[in-house]
Amino acid sequence: MTAFDPDKEIPGHIAIIMDGNGRWAAARGLPRRDGHRAGADSVEEVLRACGDLGVKYLTLYAFSSENWKRPQAEITALMGLLAHFLKEKTPVLMKNNIRLRVIGHLERLPMRNQKQLRESMAVTAGNDGLTLVVALSYGSREEIVDAARALMIEAKAGITDPATLDNETFARHLYTADFPDPDLLIRTSGECRVSNFLLWQISYAEIVITEVFWPDFRRPHLEDAIGEYQRRHRRFGGL
Ligand code: FPP
Repeated sequence: MTAFDPDKEIPGHIAIIMDGNGRWAAARGLPRRDGHRAGADSVEEVLRACGDLGVKYLTLYAFSSENWKRPQAEITALMGLLAHFLKEKTPVLMKNNIRLRVIGHLERLPMRNQKQLRESMAVTAGNDGLTLVVALSYGSREEIVDAARALMIEAKAGITDPATLDNETFARHLYTADFPDPDLLIRTSGECRVSNFLLWQISYAEIVITEVFWPDFRRPHLEDAIGEYQRRHRRFGGL
């Protein structure tokens, strides 16, 4: 554990791979959906803590493109949980000056979720505190291919010149065009993988893996991860 210092740099953008809901539930003899439900409480606590600490962006990997392969009952439970979260928490987002954004293929979600997400994004659009970015039906390779496709269309139309294409122009075609890159990537449940999450954007992120399952992740765990981030010296490829 590394002591967190509120006077030292706080990462401006934290991204989290919320993993271990299923194992948390299995360890208690509960169905997987109960793990996801408990995970939603962690989302709320982390959101609050990030707001208090002055984090500007929090990106959460809530549902990957690959998660569509899960049993239909689990997908339905997750979408139900998302609907419940948005209904209950949109007023909390307003009260705490939090703006909601989504990355991923929103149009693949059930209509009810799409409608609610669009409404919640519209209602919170004027908030300028923390931005909560929820990755839904998100896959990083798909995002990169989508950006490449958009650029090829632009090139064909003579809007973009392939000869002058650079990192900045490419990044402006990613779903995350409006956000800075994450400074800190946290993955819970001890797995050391990035699982197709923000592959381009985490090029220089500090990665902290914690053994804790996501439903057990609380403010002190977040502070530990930030403490670890503060202890590291970021060089961005320089000396
Ligand atoms: C990974 O655990 C978690 C998910 C696939 C879903 C995360 C979703 C939530 C925490 C629900 C609430 C989110 C919002 C934004 C309201 P896993 O199922 O892969 O766990 P396992 O690896 O132990 O099986």
